[in-house]
Amino acid sequence: MRATMHRALVFVLLLGVAYAKFENYEGTSVYEFSVKNGAEAKLMQQLEKELDLDIWAHPGPSRPGTVLVPKQLKGEFEYKLKFAGIQHKVQVDNIKEYMELEDKLLTSAKSQRANVTAAGLSFDRVYTWEDIDQYLEVLAEAYPDTVTVVNGGSSVERRPMKYLKISTTNFQDKSKPVIYMQSLLHAREWITQAASLYAIHRLVIDVTERDMRNDFDWIIVPVANPDGFVHTHGISGTFRYWRKNRSTDYGLLCMGVDLNRNFDVIFGTGSSDNVCSDTFHGAGPFSEPETQVIRDIIAEHKDRMELFLDIHSFGSWILYGYGNGTLPANALYTHLIGVQMAQAIDAVKKSYNPDYVVGNTALMLYEASGSAADYAISVGVPFSYTYELPGLRFDPGTLFGFLVDPAFIEQAGFETWEGIKVGARYARNSYRARKGLL
Ligand SMILES: *[C@@H]1O[C@H](CO)[C@@H](O)[C@H](O)[C@H]1NC(C)=O
Ligand SMILES: *[C@@H]1O[C@H](CO)[C@@H](O)[C@H](O)[C@H]1NC(C)=O
Ligand SMILES: *[C@@H]1O[C@H](CO)[C@@H](O)[C@H](O)[C@H]1NC(C)=O
Ligand SMILES: [Zn+2]
Repeated sequence: MRATMHRALVFVLLLGVAYAKFENYEGTSVYEFSVKNGAEAKLMQQLEKELDLDIWAHPGPSRPGTVLVPKQLKGEFEYKLKFAGIQHKVQVDNIKEYMELEDKLLTSAKSQRANVTAAGLSFDRVYTWEDIDQYLEVLAEAYPDTVTVVNGGSSVERRPMKYLKISTTNFQDKSKPVIYMQSLLHAREWITQAASLYAIHRLVIDVTERDMRNDFDWIIVPVANPDGFVHTHGISGTFRYWRKNRSTDYGLLCMGVDLNRNFDVIFGTGSSDNVCSDTFHGAGPFSEPETQVIRDIIAEHKDRMELFLDIHSFGSWILYGYGNGTLPANALYTHLIGVQMAQAIDAVKKSYNPDYVVGNTALMLYEASGSAADYAISVGVPFSYTYELPGLRFDPGTLFGFLVDPAFIEQAGFETWEGIKVGARYARNSYRARKGLL
C-alpha cells in the first residue's frame, strides 16, 4: 500500500462512500523491468521515490524486477522509462483481477471453519492470526513434553507475540544447538506462514526425521508482525499489500515501520527516514515492540543459537549479510551452506519456478540496513539467512508475487522444509565443532 493511495482512501472513507473489494487497485499494473547498469538502477530508485511506487521485486543480475504502478501514473512511468532506455513490459494489466482470483480461491478453501486441532492444520488455506494464535496453544496443550508456547510481549495493537519452543529436553541439553525461524515479519508475504506451520507440523505431529526433533531446540515465530498481518486482511482488501507494522507514532496517514529495517545493525544506512516509505526504519533502533521481542529471544538463546532463518517472499533467493555488502568472517561457509539449502529446494521445486539464487543481500539485490538476519550475525549467531520464497504459485506459473494459490501452500511448506533440514544438519555439525562436542 502506497502512501498516496492510502491518503486517497482515507479521504474516500471519510466521505462514507461504499467501496467494493480491492477497488483501490483497479487499473493498477505490474511491470517487469531490467536494469543494465548502476546508472539505470539509480534512476529506478529515484523514480520509485518520486512516483511513490511499490517495487515488488528488485532486479538482480540476470533477473528482472517488478513494480506496481497505479493507473494514473502509468503514462508518466512509461514515458520516463522509455526516455531512459530502460527495458520494461506490462506483466499484468490489472492486478485487481488477480486479487479477486486469490480472494475467490482462498475463500472457497475456507468455506468450512479452520480445523484448529492437535491433529494438525491442513495446508490448503491462509490462516488468520487468530487461528494461528489458537493453534500454538492447542499444540502446547496436546504435546506438553515437547511444545511450549511463550508470549514474548505485545504488539502495538496489544496482540500477544506468541512463539513455540520445541524440544525433547525442555531446552536443558546444552549439547543441542538452537535454531530460530520466523515468518510474516512483512505483513503481505502471506505464503511465508506455510513455511513455519509446515516446519511445526514435521517437528511435532508428523515426525519422520527424528534427528530434526531430537537434535535441536527450535524456536518458531509464525507471525512476527501480528498487527500488520491482521491489517492485510482488513477493510475490503484495501491493505492487501501492507508491509510494515501499525505504528501510529509518526502520523495517521503514513503509518508503520518496516520492521526488517528497525534492528540495531548498521541502522539507517540502507532504509528510509521518510515515514511514508515502505522501508521507513522507525524512530531509532528497536523503536518497535515487535523487534524488541525478537531481540530479546535472540539474547536469551545467543550462546546456543547456531542458525537464524527469516522467511520472506518473494523471488527464490537465499540471502545473507551484511546488507551493506561487507561479508561476515565465515562468508565462505555461509555461502556453501546457502547453496546446499538452495539445491535441496531446487530438487523438489515446481518446474515453473526458477532455481534459487544464493548470495549477499547488497551484492545481489540492494543495500539494506537494520534487518533481523543481519542483527543475528552481529550478535554472534554463526549462520543467518533471509529466504525469499518463490514468486510463482499458479501452475503453470501465471500468477505471482504476494498472491497465494491454495494449491501452492503445501508445496511452499514442503520444499522450504527441505532446505531448512540441510541448514539444520550443517548447523548441528558446526555447533558441535565450535563447542568441542565432537
Ligand atoms: C478436521 O478435524 C476432523 C476431526 O479431527 C477430521 O476428521 C477432519 O478430517 C479435519 N478436517 C481437515 C480439513 O483437516
Ligand atoms: C509499529 O510502529 C509503531 C510506531 O513506531 C511502534 O510504536 C510499534 O511498536 C510498531 N509495532 C510493531 C509491531 O513493531
Ligand atoms: C557493514 O556492517 C558491518 C556490521 O555492522 C560492519 O562490521 C562493516 O564495517 C560495515 N561495512 C561498511 C563498509 O561500512
Ligand atoms: Zn519481506
